[in-house]
Amino acid sequence: MKILSIETSCDETAIAIIETNNDLSNPEITILGNSLISQVEIHKEYGGVFPTLARREHAKNLLPLLVKTLKEANLYSKTESHISKNTESKLKEIFSKEPELCDFFLSTALKINIPQIDLIAVTEGPGLAPALWVGLNFAEALRFIWNKPVISVNHMEGHIWSVLYGSRKKVVFPALALLVSGGHTELVYIENYNQYRVIGKTKDDAVGEAFDKVARILGLPYPGGPEISRLASKFREDGRTTQIIFPQPMIHSNNLDFSFSGLKTSVLYRVKTLGELTLAVKEEVAYAFEEAAVSVLCSKVRKALDMYPAKTLIVGGGVISNTYLQEKLKMVQEEYNDLMLIFPSQGLATDNAVMIGIAAWIRAYNNPTLFELSTLPLKARANLSL
Ligand code: KG4
Ligand code: ZN
Repeated sequence: MKILSIETSCDETAIAIIETNNDLSNPEITILGNSLISQVEIHKEYGGVFPTLARREHAKNLLPLLVKTLKEANLYSKTESHISKNTESKLKEIFSKEPELCDFFLSTALKINIPQIDLIAVTEGPGLAPALWVGLNFAEALRFIWNKPVISVNHMEGHIWSVLYGSRKKVVFPALALLVSGGHTELVYIENYNQYRVIGKTKDDAVGEAFDKVARILGLPYPGGPEISRLASKFREDGRTTQIIFPQPMIHSNNLDFSFSGLKTSVLYRVKTLGELTLAVKEEVAYAFEEAAVSVLCSKVRKALDMYPAKTLIVGGGVISNTYLQEKLKMVQEEYNDLMLIFPSQGLATDNAVMIGIAAWIRAYNNPTLFELSTLPLKARANLSL
C-alpha cells in the first residue's frame, strides 16, 4: 500500500510517501519520498513556537514539499487541466482561512497528475490548532481533487509507530511506550495495535519543554534539547563532579505521572546564585539538569514495567535523540528479562511525516471502511489524546 502523509502539528512541515507490505505481523516499510522543512530558525527569536507564524509557514511550504516528495517517489507527472467553476469554488471553501494557499493550489496542484497512491494520512492532533488546520485543509483539498481516502491520525500514534521503520526487532505485545517530546511526556500501555491506554503523563511541562526552558535560562538557543545534551556530555566526558543536585519531581509518587515545571524553576533559582554564566557553569547546570530529568524518566519507566509487565519498550519523540537517555534506558532494559527496547531510526525521533503514514497504515489495516471516500470535513483536535 502506498500512503502519502502530511504532518503540520507544530513547527515542521513534512510530507512523505511510504510503501508498506500487507503484513502487520512482519512489517516492511519503504520510504519512497520524505521531505521536511523545519521552522526552527524562524521561531528561534521567540524562544518557542509561535502558532500563527507556524500556520503561515506551513501554508507556504506544503505545495513545494508535495511536488518534491512526489518527484522523489517517481510519482510526479504534469497534466493540462481545465479548472471548472465548481472546483474553484469548492477549493475556495476548503481554503477559506488560507486564501494564499488556495491560489497556489489552483495554479500548482491541479496541474499534477493523480498519483498512484492508496491513501492520504494527516495529523489531526494534538498540536497547535492553527498549524494543524493547514495540514488538514490541504489533505481535504487533495482528497477532493484526487478522490483518495484520507485517514487523520493522532500525532502520538505516529511517535509510537515511528519505531517500526527500519527496525529488525518486531514489537511483541503487550508493549509499553515512553513518549518524550516538546509537547508531551506520556507512558502508554499498548495491549495490541490500536489498543492504547495512557497510564502516566505530565501534570505540567513536557520533558522537551523543560530542556527548552532550561536552555533559555542558560542563554542557549532554541531548541534547547540538543544544546543541553551537548554541554552535559562535555561535563561528563571531562570527568568533572558537581555539588548541584536538582530535585527529581514525583520520583517517589505512587503513580506514573510526571512533573517538570518545578525542576525548571529550581534551575532558574539556582542559576541566580551562580554569578556569571561562564561556559563551565552552563555545562555544570546542563549536566545536573539532565541527570535529574533522565533519572525521573527511567524511574517512572521501571515503575510502569513493574505495574504493567511488558515485552517491548518503545521510546518515541524528539527527546529520545538524547544519547544519555538512550544509555540509561538500555540499563533499565537489562534489569528486565526478555524485554525488547526499540528506538526510532535516525531522523524519525523528531517530528516527521513518515511516522504519520505508518500510524495511518496501522489504523487502516484490516479496516476496509476507512478506505471509503468521505466528504465529511476534517477537523483539528488540538488536545486529542490517545
Ligand atoms: O517530537 P518533537 O520533534 O516535537 C514535538 O512533538 O514536540 O520533539 C522536540 C523536542 C524539543 O523540546 C527538543 O528540545 C527535544 O525534543 N530534543 C531533545 C534532544 N533533541 C531534541 N531533548 C533532549 N536531548 C536531545 N538531544
Ligand atoms: Zn512530536
